[in-house]
Amino acid sequence: MNEMPVVDAEAGTLLPKISASKVQVFYGETHAIKDVDLKIADRTVTAFIGPSGCGKSTFLRCLNRMNDTIDICRVRGDIRIDGEDIYDPKVDPVQLRAKVGMVFQKPNPFPKSIYDNIAYGPRIHGLSRSKGDLDEIVANSLQKAASTRRSRTGSTSRERACPAASNSGCASRAPLR
Ligand SMILES: Nc1ncnc2c1ncn2[C@@H]1O[C@H](COP(=O)(O)OP(=O)(O)O)[C@@H](O)[C@H]1O
Ligand SMILES: [Mg+2]
Repeated sequence: MNEMPVVDAEAGTLLPKISASKVQVFYGETHAIKDVDLKIADRTVTAFIGPSGCGKSTFLRCLNRMNDTIDICRVRGDIRIDGEDIYDPKVDPVQLRAKVGMVFQKPNPFPKSIYDNIAYGPRIHGLSRSKGDLDEIVANSLQKAASTRRSRTGSTSRERACPAASNSGCASRAPLR
């Protein structure tokens, strides 16, 4: 995708960073999103507000093709980022997701060790040259996460014993390697 703002050559105007047109999403027979049209400018903050189940998360997942991972889900319509159709067959969803990140409501670790969960991002982005580099990134990340949490909430005796225990759910049960 382009790093520079995309200009509509004919109109000479900046194209929106993200544009959606007539977006429909189906989960099997359930028509979850109907005809969504939206333009989002670069460097702006946009909030989707609505009752539970109205389709906020479904639409957000369209923006990095996370819905591709749900078997019964079909997405129709046109979604462009920097003018590029992100559903074009030549777009690699993994590359797209490296650019269009998401922070979920709840921690959603991969079914791997804490080490592998933290190392996942640096690994796929080639940010470490050696196992030693990666070990350092993981150790620093755990230390930062533990100290951030302590400064916000005060540490519990369990966290003092094991900083990784500050993650919730299965993250806290994942084995450290
Ligand atoms: N994985 C899924 N399989 C089937 N239906 C789903 C799935 N995810 C969401 N839905 C349905 O799609 C609709 C929109 O859900 P969702 O996008 O999660 O809403 P919101 O984020 O606004 O609470 C709801 O009717 C929900 O039940
Ligand atoms: Mg939601």
